[in-house]
Amino acid sequence: MRVLVVGRIGQVGTELALKLPASGHEVLSTEPPELDLLKPETVRACFEAFRPDIVVNAAAYTAVDKAEDDIDLAYAINRDGTALLGRETARIGVPMIHFSTDYVFAGDKPTPYVESDPTGPVGIYGASKLAGDLALAEANPRSVVLRTAWVCSAHGGNFVKTMLRLGRERPELGVVADQHGAPTFADDLADAVVALIPRLVAAPVGDAGFGVFHLTGQPFTTWYGFAEAIFAGAAARGEKAPILRAITTADYPTKATRPANSRLDCSRIAAVHGVRAADWRGALERCLGVLVG
Ligand SMILES: NC(=O)c1ccc[n+]([C@@H]2O[C@H](COP(=O)([O-])OP(=O)(O)OC[C@H]3O[C@@H](n4cnc5c(N)ncnc54)[C@H](OP(=O)(O)O)[C@@H]3O)[C@@H](O)[C@H]2O)c1
Repeated sequence: MRVLVVGRIGQVGTELALKLPASGHEVLSTEPPELDLLKPETVRACFEAFRPDIVVNAAAYTAVDKAEDDIDLAYAINRDGTALLGRETARIGVPMIHFSTDYVFAGDKPTPYVESDPTGPVGIYGASKLAGDLALAEANPRSVVLRTAWVCSAHGGNFVKTMLRLGRERPELGVVADQHGAPTFADDLADAVVALIPRLVAAPVGDAGFGVFHLTGQPFTTWYGFAEAIFAGAAARGEKAPILRAITTADYPTKATRPANSRLDCSRIAAVHGVRAADWRGALERCLGVLVG
C-alpha cells in the first residue's frame, strides 16, 4: 500500500516511519514545509504527487499548557487541519487513520472510558482535538479515530525522558499519584496502525472497522507508579535513582487542567480489529534500552 504519513518527526510519526516500510508499505512521511496543515496547497500537492491508498495523521498541536494561550493555532492545526485531511482523503476516496486523546473527556468518570461515553474536554487542547475528530467523521466516513493517552517513546519529549533528566538532577522527586491512566509507547501504536491498514483500505463505508477506538498500553497505573517503573528499570541499568514522593494534582499546578481519570477501555479495538493493548512494561524496557543503554 502507499501510505502517506502526516507528522514525520513526532513521537508516533517517527515510529510509523520505521514500522510501515518494514511491513512492506511504500511510505511518504511528511513534515512542514513539505506538508503543512496550515497550508492547504501543500496538502493537495502531496496527495497529487504521491496518490496514497491511505493517510495516517500523526500531526497535532500537542502543547497542552501552551494551547490555553495559543487558542487559534491549536484549533487551526487540530480542528481545521484534521478537517482538511478528511476532505482531501474523501475527495480521492481513501481511508484515514487519525490519533486523538483522553483529553476529550473530563476525567471525572470513576471507571475507564468507553468510546460511547459523553465527551467533555476541560481545556483548549482537548476541545480542539475533539473538534477535529468530529470534523473528520463528518468529512470522511471511512476514517478511524484512535484515542490514546500518555504517549512515550525514545524519540521526542515525554514523561520517560523528563523523569530520567530530573532523576539525574535531583536527589528527591515529587510525582503526581492521583491521576490514573496507562502509558502508551509510540512503537506499539505504530504496530496497531500496521495491523489496521489492510482491512481499512478494502472496507466500504459503514464497515465496523471505521469509527472511534481506544488504544493505550496496559495495565493502568498513576504517574507515580510509572515513575517507579522508570527508575527501577534505570537503576537496573546502573543509573542513580532519586527518592520518589507521591504528591497530588493540587501540589503540581499546571496552566491546563489534567483529567484525573485517563483510563481508556480498549476492548472495542480488540473485538473489532484483534488489536490488544500492549503491556507498557515491555515497551518501557525497550525504550530504556535506547535511552540509558
Ligand atoms: N503525546 C501524548 O501524550 C499524547 C496523548 C494522547 C494523544 N496524543 C495524540 O497522538 C498524536 C501523536 O502525538 P505525538 O506525541 O507523536 O506528537 P508530537 O511528538 O508532538 O508530534 C506532533 C507532530 O505534528 C507536527 N505538526 C505540528 N504542526 C503541524 C502542521 N501545521 N503541519 C504538519 N505537521 C505539524 C509536528 O511537527 P513540528 O515538530 O515540525 O512542529 C510533529 O511532527 C497526536 O494526535 C496527539 O494529539 C498524544
